Amino acid sequence: MISVGITGTGKYLPEKVVTNEDIVNMGLDTSTEWIEERTGIKERRVAEENISSSDMAFEAAEDALKDAGLDSEDIDLLIVSTTTPDYQVFPSTACLLQDRLGLRNVGAFDLSAACTGFSYALTTGAQFVKSGDMKNVLVVSVDCLSRFVDWTDRSICILFGDGAGAVVLSEVDKDYGILLSELYSQGDAADLLMVPAGGSRRMMSMDILEQKENLVRMDGRAVFKMAVNSFVPSVLNAVKKAGLSLDDINYFVPHQANLRIIDLAAQKLKLDKNKVLINIQKYGNTSSASIPIIMAEAKREGLFKDGDIIVMAGFGAGFTWAVNILRWGGINV
Ligand code: COA
Repeated sequence: MISVGITGTGKYLPEKVVTNEDIVNMGLDTSTEWIEERTGIKERRVAEENISSSDMAFEAAEDALKDAGLDSEDIDLLIVSTTTPDYQVFPSTACLLQDRLGLRNVGAFDLSAACTGFSYALTTGAQFVKSGDMKNVLVVSVDCLSRFVDWTDRSICILFGDGAGAVVLSEVDKDYGILLSELYSQGDAADLLMVPAGGSRRMMSMDILEQKENLVRMDGRAVFKMAVNSFVPSVLNAVKKAGLSLDDINYFVPHQANLRIIDLAAQKLKLDKNKVLINIQKYGNTSSASIPIIMAEAKREGLFKDGDIIVMAGFGAGFTWAVNILRWGGINV
């Protein structure tokens, strides 16, 4: 079996910054203190009107290709994880991106697992390299949830931001790369976090628009509990299954949804604060893009050293969650 690692990372954040103060100034019944204290978020990025998911994905993908030292002709497969595609039904955002990147003779498809999208796409893409069928797979995770939140709902609009992250998956030295991936789903909790209408169950109508049922609905408290109770035990299991202990973890990279969720997880996993990567204060919850964005930032800062054990943990609507354990380095093949 071929070892597969992350050999390039990239990110894109829209230029427009919306601070907590901006949200207060929109007239919402909230305060900068409440938002920061309850979520850890200070500001988030919001895509300008003329920027779509595929535009952000393009920038992150180019960044990752450059970082990996690869050209578009080196890529054998493109996977885009998103729940906010350019077009509701088709074509896929992956096909739009494949064209813009000039990828030729490759498969390209979208993958939908909400905020867990990156973890699912990473796991899926890695299989093609692991089997020897493909050399380089490009995974791009992008979301533009600012288009799907009610900017008058103080409990939801404060949380989300837009952005894209990307990784290149290629062969690495033996015993490096992705050591273990575990995917989970629990559809009986689907209604905790959903966009209730606008799909095939209830097609778009004037009534739906008036009731804002085409926008995100969430039971925040229940999602909070579900998140902590799902991915924390799964991280513990995965670490054990990989033959590692919690002390072996050099960096923990959780999905950035709420700082209190991250802190609680770190506490339960008995991880030192300096091992936990956090950027939620700058970007809010960028959904499937959050883990690859923070991975790209950490790599640019030179944080990861050869042999570091990195545990990535995603969770989100569905309900879905996932854990990927990676040994960094070995990029000499
Ligand atoms: N400003 C001020 N008050 C607010 C507020 C805001 N922006 N948003 C909610 N409140 C109010 C509520 O209306 C409620 O008021 P009430 O007691 O009069 O009914 C009070 O604050 C407490 O609400 P609660 O929902 O218990 O707050 P919380 O501490 O759980 O924080 C969230 C709310 C949404 C920040 C938090 O539940 C959360 O982050 N949940 C997880 C969401 C998530 O991660 N989603 C994505 C998963 S991928």
